[in-house]
Amino acid sequence: MAAPTTAVDRAAALRGAIERHNHAYYVLDQPTLPDAEFDQLFRELQALESDYPELVTADSPTRRVGGQPLAAFGQVKHGVPMLSLNNAFAPDEAVAFDRRCREALEHDNVEYAVEPKFDGLAITLIYQHGAFVTGATRGDGFNGEDVTANLRTVRNMPLRLQGSMLPESLEVRGEVLMLRSDFERLNAHQRTSGAKEFVNPRNAAAGSLRQLDPKVSARRPLRFFAYAVAEMAGAEWPATHAGLMALLAGWGFKVAAEAALTTAVDGLLEYYARIGEARPSLPYDIDGVVYKVNRLDEQATLGFVSRAPRFAIAHKFPAQEALTTVEAIEVQVGRTGAITPVARLAPVFVGGVTVTNATLHNEDEVRRKDVRVGDTVIVRRAGDVIPEVVAIVAEKRADDAVAFVMPTACPVCGSVVEKLPDEAIARCSGGLVCPAQRKQALLHFASRRAMDIEGLGDKLVEQLVDNAIVKSPADLYKMGILGLQTLAGLERMADKSAANLLAAIAASKTTTLARFIYALGIRNVGEATARDLARHFGKLDNLLEAGEELLMRVPDVGPVVAASISHFFREPHNLEAIAQLRAAGVNWTEGEAVGNLSSAIAGKTFVLTGALPTLTRDEARDMIEAAGGKVAGSVSKKTDYVVAGAEAGSKLEKAQQLSLTILDESQLRELLQQ
Ligand code: IVH
Repeated sequence: MAAPTTAVDRAAALRGAIERHNHAYYVLDQPTLPDAEFDQLFRELQALESDYPELVTADSPTRRVGGQPLAAFGQVKHGVPMLSLNNAFAPDEAVAFDRRCREALEHDNVEYAVEPKFDGLAITLIYQHGAFVTGATRGDGFNGEDVTANLRTVRNMPLRLQGSMLPESLEVRGEVLMLRSDFERLNAHQRTSGAKEFVNPRNAAAGSLRQLDPKVSARRPLRFFAYAVAEMAGAEWPATHAGLMALLAGWGFKVAAEAALTTAVDGLLEYYARIGEARPSLPYDIDGVVYKVNRLDEQATLGFVSRAPRFAIAHKFPAQEALTTVEAIEVQVGRTGAITPVARLAPVFVGGVTVTNATLHNEDEVRRKDVRVGDTVIVRRAGDVIPEVVAIVAEKRADDAVAFVMPTACPVCGSVVEKLPDEAIARCSGGLVCPAQRKQALLHFASRRAMDIEGLGDKLVEQLVDNAIVKSPADLYKMGILGLQTLAGLERMADKSAANLLAAIAASKTTTLARFIYALGIRNVGEATARDLARHFGKLDNLLEAGEELLMRVPDVGPVVAASISHFFREPHNLEAIAQLRAAGVNWTEGEAVGNLSSAIAGKTFVLTGALPTLTRDEARDMIEAAGGKVAGSVSKKTDYVVAGAEAGSKLEKAQQLSLTILDESQLRELLQQ
């Protein structure tokens, strides 16, 4: 059945509306319709086209979702070769470019169109009578690959030129790329779906454009930015490159928002500096700026030399990525105790500086990227951001590459490294004693809501630690009379301020248990928790002895906080620092415990023997230990309980001889419940 004229008209109207909206959304960044209404128009057009297939046009927006998979890409011979630009890396090369242009054009008022150099893939698009017909990659510059089907899925590229005065034929050159925000989202999705992540937006764009299945391409958020016209027939050429870009924008193409006009070499270099500064905050990756003589007649006069134009040059920024090898993987301890694996690298020049270290963020990241000592890696340094290892080069993996193992002890102070179940970051548990954390720990210790030592701020802590006057909080209380001289000798200090500080330190000695607990800087223990702990346990020693099970009886203390507290008090260095503080005279009035501190299991010794009906030996041990009990290997008079299962042997006999309490699994479970 032929489509009635109403359907023909409606399809045309829908195509127009959808493309206008696409343009407003993807080119102008000014959406005109709510997404739901857009979807409705789109589905209506899809329905019409499926009812009347003859209504489907090559430029229909429904084609943007991708057509049939291809066996291979066809070849396209470029009517006008796709040349490359000569590069400038240093200012004097820009100076030389400007001089050459002025000399060849025989005047000094050369105007330049300046724009970012997109870091994507060069593409050429052919339009006939306003409709997009063919799109191709650069290839070797003379022949490229036909990626028309994939390009149709690029949302900000007009499938039909807008406006009235359209050229009969038009060949537009530009760059296909992926915006950084889209790249991050795509990679997050790759990660959660277990697919391989892309190294950078450029690789992601290249991989997406070269998909043989256009439906896959359609799901990858590509963008096209126009920067030149190769051929145009049936329309008048403007006088300048800027005029040409305005014409393209009017036809519905996205062009660089950062494009500008300038004169003289100072103008070029200013633009280079300005865009260089804006580089980290641009929505896409760029690798330089491009200077182009603005007048098209002057471009023609300058012409080409070998395979590059003489009228334009790319002034490159320092590369942000480079290859190097991992010589070692070590860990660093931050001010908060966070332990970060760091790759020691063979020196490499990247992002404008020589880089020898790059962060690997955390243990999971090292595993995910599978970085090993000896690997060849891609290192990235963007702006002032800390250099990072982006990915390994898998093909260069050596047989003897060594995997990373997270140390169990802090490399700075030797305290136990802890990693809580819900956290990606491992931390040193020696907060009070670890030199890496000293400044932070002291500042917290002295802060108003903790020990409240007035006058002990940033600058002072810095000097006290750097001059090794104070190593642990107890040292503050040991300065005594000699401290006056030492303190008065520090920057920004005088006799009076030193005396005031010593008085404040002395006054802080008498405090409350809640403040003292908070001052210790235990991870996950804020002021409120410290207060709850003080109330619940009454005495510091009650708290020090509590296992995780008892800790969890405190309101709002769950397994994570309980683990933090118990790790902290299990670390001998921390206990020593606390003992020193008490010895130095820090005191508070101890109260009575409000909470229930007794437990059927805490402090009791168990021996396991025989096979229990449902629990393995390890499971039973974990449960007993989690409840604060101990599990010993042999039965003695000190044993409190023997848990016996099937085929229990000599241990059971001995327990009977000693008349110890013998439990079966269900009795053990009952005890654990109490
Ligand atoms: S103009 C005759 N403008 O850089 C060549 N190219 O090395 C005309 N590129 O393959 C190119 N941004 O892919 C021009 N604003 C821009 C550009 C740009 C990126 C790429 C392009 C070309 C390469 C030249």
